[in-house]
Amino acid sequence: MILKSLELKNFRNIPYAKAEFEDGVNILYGKNAQGKTNIMEAIRFFTECRSFRGANDRELIISGETKAEITAVFEKDGREQTAQVRFDAEKRRELYLNGAKTIPKEFIGTFNTVLFYPEQLSLIKNGPDNRRKFVDISICQLRPVYYSLLSRFSRTLQQRNALLKSGDIRTLDIWDERFAKLSFLVTKTRENYISRLEIPSAASVKEISGGKEELSLKYIPSFQAEDEEEIFCELEKNREKDGELGYTSVGAHKDDFETYLNGKNVKIYGSQGQQRSCVMAFKLAEAEITGETRGEYPLILLDDVFSELDTERRDYITGKIMGKQVIITSCDPITRIDGAKKIYVESGTVTDG
Ligand SMILES: Nc1ncnc2c1ncn2[C@@H]1O[C@H](COP(=O)(O)OP(=O)(O)OP(=O)(O)O)[C@@H](O)[C@H]1O
Ligand SMILES: [Mg+2]
Repeated sequence: MILKSLELKNFRNIPYAKAEFEDGVNILYGKNAQGKTNIMEAIRFFTECRSFRGANDRELIISGETKAEITAVFEKDGREQTAQVRFDAEKRRELYLNGAKTIPKEFIGTFNTVLFYPEQLSLIKNGPDNRRKFVDISICQLRPVYYSLLSRFSRTLQQRNALLKSGDIRTLDIWDERFAKLSFLVTKTRENYISRLEIPSAASVKEISGGKEELSLKYIPSFQAEDEEEIFCELEKNREKDGELGYTSVGAHKDDFETYLNGKNVKIYGSQGQQRSCVMAFKLAEAEITGETRGEYPLILLDDVFSELDTERRDYITGKIMGKQVIITSCDPITRIDGAKKIYVESGTVTDG
């Protein structure tokens, strides 16, 4: 996929901006707090159908206004396409693809990007919700139907928790059956993705470490089950406890994955550099898998990560993404990358050069 241009109206600190991108490396540079990450957030919006920073629509609209808009023109499946989102402080946001109104369930998987941002370098150290989110977003890019599965799963979980809290458990059997089925499917899909992610990630880590480090990944379901029946039984067994807690203690919403280097758990034993190498490897693997599955390499977004990595890791990433479309943000124009298109960002305005 190639992003041709991006137009922003009243988005974050940007009253109006239009940027054109080239097929290769594009660098958004400028001082702190000028709007570089805001632009990344706007681009990435079309991948996740939400803000990657978890912002709500009001936060995305420039202070003092009630409406905002992002429009992206991109090349995908051999033709030029337009994605647009309109935010309104009073109404639900509206999403359009090629002029026709659409919904996230239909749209997801259309606009493939892989995003690296500094907070994510702590993916291994952070809580399991970050790792589940990473895996879920990646799978949605490959198999858009997974988005619907996840939505159904979270709605069922909410419903079950609400019933537990209300104490009215007469219909719990039906919900448990539904929950067990969806939870089992989510776990299986994630397990498959993790084993797919392991191969290219291990290859990268081996290369970065000069052949010394062998990476392996292990999916950790909250409860080991052979089929949905076993989850159903476990839910039944835990009913009393779950009722007291007011939430569901077993299911895909509690799953996790672990990363090992030469058999040692990186979260416990790995250095910060090793943890970062693993995350970097996951991201490159994600791009490779998305490229293989969708037939087109995704757009790579590197928000501020170069400043966080040492020269060796920087060069490794640069080598891997050479020839692909990349958008990098940085406080300096990174003159080391030849032939890159440079875009200057200053107090919410963009200019070429
Ligand atoms: N809804 C909004 N309305 C107006 N300004 C906003 C809004 N949301 C965020 N901002 C402003 O956007 C700026 C931050 O922009 P951004 O995060 O893109 O900075 P950056 O250029 O990436 O900086 P850094 O180099 O520090 O990462 C801040 O000045 C912030 O106050
Ligand atoms: Mg930033």
